[in-house]
Amino acid sequence: MTLVLLLAAAYAAGSVPFAIIASRLFGLEDPRKYGSGNPGATNVLRSGNKAAAIVTLIGDCAKGWVVVLVAAAIGFGPGEAALAGLFALLGHIFSFFLRFKGGKGVATALGVLGGIDPWLALIALLTWLGVAFATRYSSLAALCAAAAAPIATLILIPTVGTFGAVLAMSGILVWRHKDNITRLKNGTEPRIGGKK
Ligand code: G3P
Repeated sequence: MTLVLLLAAAYAAGSVPFAIIASRLFGLEDPRKYGSGNPGATNVLRSGNKAAAIVTLIGDCAKGWVVVLVAAAIGFGPGEAALAGLFALLGHIFSFFLRFKGGKGVATALGVLGGIDPWLALIALLTWLGVAFATRYSSLAALCAAAAAPIATLILIPTVGTFGAVLAMSGILVWRHKDNITRLKNGTEPRIGGKK
């Protein structure tokens, strides 16, 4: 398989919108129509259905993880596998199945980090959990995890390809949270567990 084919397959896998799939499975409203409008686990949780939010979280996380693991398993190097992970994230955010719209990418990025190195995912996850428990802001937790990931990568895997992919993922995550950042500054950001 060529690198171009790998990246196209990674984009296609990342495009699968688990928030929409889980919402349909559980008979819920489309998450793009309530709350933040984001097709992601945090917003699906605002429906009040925890199981649907968990399915969304696991599905979105798994697709990033599987892409990186498969890329490595079929012979691509660590930098190329990380790049494939970045393309899975782009698929999630600019989903082919959602007319090139999509989610914010937090769960998918976590899965990609897990595929690159489980320690990276653990550091990002612990950062997310710590901030989320302290503040109950999912977006702030994601922004802190996005800041921690490249620093952890620089320490654990200081190679240009992997660090570049993780840094790009973090930059994209911050950009995708620009509305959340405005709401955090204004004090209008909803906390985890709030209803739609
Ligand atoms: O995972 C997305 C989260 O960081 C923010 O989601 O729906 O509150 O914009 P939301």
